[in-house]
Amino acid sequence: MKIAVLPGDGIGPEIVTQATKVLEALRRDGMKIEMEHAPIGGAGYEAAGDPLPEATLKLAKDSDAVLLGAVGDWKYDTLPRDQRPERGLLRIRKELGLFANLRPALLYPELASASTLKPEVVSGLDIMIVRELTGDVYFGQPRGISTLPNGEREGVNTMRYCESEIRRIGHVAFRIAMKRNKRVCSVDKANVLETTELWRQVMIEVAKEYPEVELSHMYVDNAAMQLVRAPKQFDVMVTGNIFGDILSDEASMLTGSIGMLPSASLDADNKGMYEPSHGSAPDIAGKDVANPLATILSVAMMLRYTFNDEAGATRIENAVKKALAQGYRTADIHTEGCNKVGCAAMGDVVVAAL
Ligand code: IPM
Ligand code: MG
Repeated sequence: MKIAVLPGDGIGPEIVTQATKVLEALRRDGMKIEMEHAPIGGAGYEAAGDPLPEATLKLAKDSDAVLLGAVGDWKYDTLPRDQRPERGLLRIRKELGLFANLRPALLYPELASASTLKPEVVSGLDIMIVRELTGDVYFGQPRGISTLPNGEREGVNTMRYCESEIRRIGHVAFRIAMKRNKRVCSVDKANVLETTELWRQVMIEVAKEYPEVELSHMYVDNAAMQLVRAPKQFDVMVTGNIFGDILSDEASMLTGSIGMLPSASLDADNKGMYEPSHGSAPDIAGKDVANPLATILSVAMMLRYTFNDEAGATRIENAVKKALAQGYRTADIHTEGCNKVGCAAMGDVVVAAL
């Protein structure tokens, strides 16, 4: 199994180092893994003047899976738009056809008190957010900032989805629901936006192929509210790119910290890119305080979804649970009486627990 390792920017390199320690431990136990590193994001721009250097894209395409840290740093915010780190991330998603982004929001019992919501509201929480990742207003044309004849500037982005894009992400969500509690909530803004009116129609059509799964619909504003009011009502949520971006950040905080949330981005054949749901956090980069667990848990998702190694995935997840049960916490999830550790030490604790 060949894994392309793309650490990226900010805290990316330090969290990815912890995840590769886990992979190396698995290799010592006999798993056949090959890893090759390449730059992306700001690091790609520094190395090759491109947030997604040609060689990085080639490596990603030639690998069985991609492990990504995070991209972005304020210092690149003034670059021309197509050279900014985020564009590198969007391009690799598009180039690899990674249309299905799975973002589980799972509350570890040990972290119930780290959530800003009351323990009874979040305990037992287990939501799978299925976010469409290669369409919507993120990629729609026309886009840009231009100057109108009257001299005023205008910004334009285009929200669009075609039927087949909606249908394939719908199938992903329903298939996942079949393995869970058989409930799908499709999130849209069908009362205002035609794009999502079509989204709703297609979801209803897809649902007919899964008679055992209960489909419900929710407007995105209500979904944002329900996530903090009564989050346990959700099993699988399926939504478009931008709503999924926003709702997955919101859902992550229910679990105590965005530093706990892994993600998988899959193509039609389950080849995937695995990355934490959080960003590059340049403000804490290089200080050894970042939480590496989301990245480590992303490796578990890699074993589960791309390498079909459920036992290996569970082994990593259990090691994370054990580290938490032993009281180890990075700063973001730290509460009174726990053992506060840095990023590298948390990686070591997980490897030991493996
Ligand atoms: C995410 C991030 C990205 C996105 C950014 C960094 C482009 O927020 O993966 O959720 O908006 O998709
Ligand atoms: Mg986001």
